[in-house]
Amino acid sequence: MNKPYIINTHSHANMLRETNIDEAISNAQNENIITIVPSSTAEDIFEVDKFIQKYDDVYGYVGVFPEEAKTFTDKTLNDMENIIRNNKKIIGIGEIGLDYYWDKSFKELQKEVFIKQIDFANQMNLPLNIHSRESHQDTLEILKKYNKNSTAILHCFSGSLEFAKECIKEGIYIALGGVVTFKNAVKAKEVATKIPLEYLLLETDDPYLAPVPFRGKENQPMYVKYVAQTIAELRKVTTDEVAQATTQNAERIFNFNAK
Ligand code: NI
Repeated sequence: MNKPYIINTHSHANMLRETNIDEAISNAQNENIITIVPSSTAEDIFEVDKFIQKYDDVYGYVGVFPEEAKTFTDKTLNDMENIIRNNKKIIGIGEIGLDYYWDKSFKELQKEVFIKQIDFANQMNLPLNIHSRESHQDTLEILKKYNKNSTAILHCFSGSLEFAKECIKEGIYIALGGVVTFKNAVKAKEVATKIPLEYLLLETDDPYLAPVPFRGKENQPMYVKYVAQTIAELRKVTTDEVAQATTQNAERIFNFNAK
């Protein structure tokens, strides 16, 4: 039987430094891994647009990251719309959201930019890939209030099991990455073990947060298989089962076929 596809729902493959990017992508392709690359600023939406057209099995999101909210202007949504209309491989809006960890000085601007991009995703009928750090309640409240029809994914989920359940009740998906493989990641392991598989997605967030056995080194898209493996061990199922379930979830959300 062929190896089931794994969909890596969040990888900055375009930002690898120590790893050759072409090699990293072909490593992923050889392992039947499909990679989705988010953008971060109002400028690099153009870079991601070009990057994903260079490779098979690589898709993208356009969006402005909370820390880059200041780069978001009236023109940004027009730019995003043009890119989406011309590039069918853009399959969502991301990464967008709230981050109160680094800088709390522009919370209101972050919220405003987040809400504008939610409205835009709703109009385009595309899912949301969301970054939320130390901002869980605000993120959930904004989604409840403003998100009408886009499926939301909380990327690199860092909340408790209780919060994960609260999100799932709202139809929000939980994406887990390398952190779940860390020995001391009690919360992430609990989430990985106890949430329904129907709401779970896999990712790497490379080049950051490489899973064990590569912790501390540069991460890359194919390492998502270690995330799947760890989750399978925690849940006492096979890695193929985790791969199949999470791929089905992603296919449903992004409305595409992994092949
Ligand atoms: Ni990211």
